[in-house]
Amino acid sequence: MDCKKFVDEQITEIRQTVGDATAISALSGGVDSSLVTVLSHRALGKQFKPVFVDSALMREGEPRQVVKTFADMGISVELEDAREDFLSALAGLTDPEEKRQAVTDTFYSKVFGRLVKDSGAKFLLHGTILTDIEETVAGIKRQHNILAQIGIKPEEDYGYSVLEPLKTLRKDGVREVCEYLEMPAEICRRIPFPGPALATRIVGEVTRERLATVRAATAIVEEELGDSGAFQYMAVLLNDRATGIRDEKREFGQIIVVRCIESIDARTATATELPWDKLLRICERITSEIEGVNRCLYDLTPKPPATIEYI
Ligand code: XMP
Repeated sequence: MDCKKFVDEQITEIRQTVGDATAISALSGGVDSSLVTVLSHRALGKQFKPVFVDSALMREGEPRQVVKTFADMGISVELEDAREDFLSALAGLTDPEEKRQAVTDTFYSKVFGRLVKDSGAKFLLHGTILTDIEETVAGIKRQHNILAQIGIKPEEDYGYSVLEPLKTLRKDGVREVCEYLEMPAEICRRIPFPGPALATRIVGEVTRERLATVRAATAIVEEELGDSGAFQYMAVLLNDRATGIRDEKREFGQIIVVRCIESIDARTATATELPWDKLLRICERITSEIEGVNRCLYDLTPKPPATIEYI
């Protein structure tokens, strides 16, 4: 792939499309939205305002860490606290599509609607990639970052236009361009993390308490598997309980699934053959360090038939 050509073309196109207007980006810190943010910053300078939305669904310490990583690259990112917006929209929902829809609506309509209004921005730059579009069009899943493809008109519905400069790339292409632009390794090599964040890793209702459980498990899994070389690894909280024994008393505890996969572009995936002692250590940590969790399972299912995330 000709990275220089891609970068030059996208910068020119962003400049031409945005003109004298202002644009914002929804930076999540993932490799896709980070690349969009760097390209937009180069194309638009002061006309561009990247925003990190704290949705309450992010991983341990993530909001502050993302803002710092970009500050170190000379890009100032605004932190928008939208935790209550998301938690109240998700309250009581258990159906996966309804949960995704609630995140979409809260993100685009409520939070971004508010940010666009306050900033006067006419454009939102988004890190949609080719795989997102293909899977959404194929009806496999409603990806939260697809609008035009599913018949939503952001201009009419929400008052702004969405630009998707990465829509011809897959994940490996995005990483190649990030490396070409010499972006920090923590971004280039960051494992994929979905837009609806930890909401995709909670089966059943998303609450503050259940988020704390899956967040703690995620921190352990990421710490233990950071050097695994796997494509993606995660913790998932099931909506079920199982009997256990702790301190010689019966406990009806929560169940965490660990998923670690090998993949090139997330369209297909297989479970990583992790060493047994590594699996045992993760299980031991999850069931001893996280209150109320007494079972830990390792998911062996490939994609297909499973998807990578649980909702
Ligand atoms: P699935 O679960 O569909 O995931 O097999 C494929 C890849 O996409 C990520 N993913 C998302 N990324 N918005 C995103 O930006 C989403 O709504 C979303 N859902 C899944 C997932 O982490 C995996 O890498």
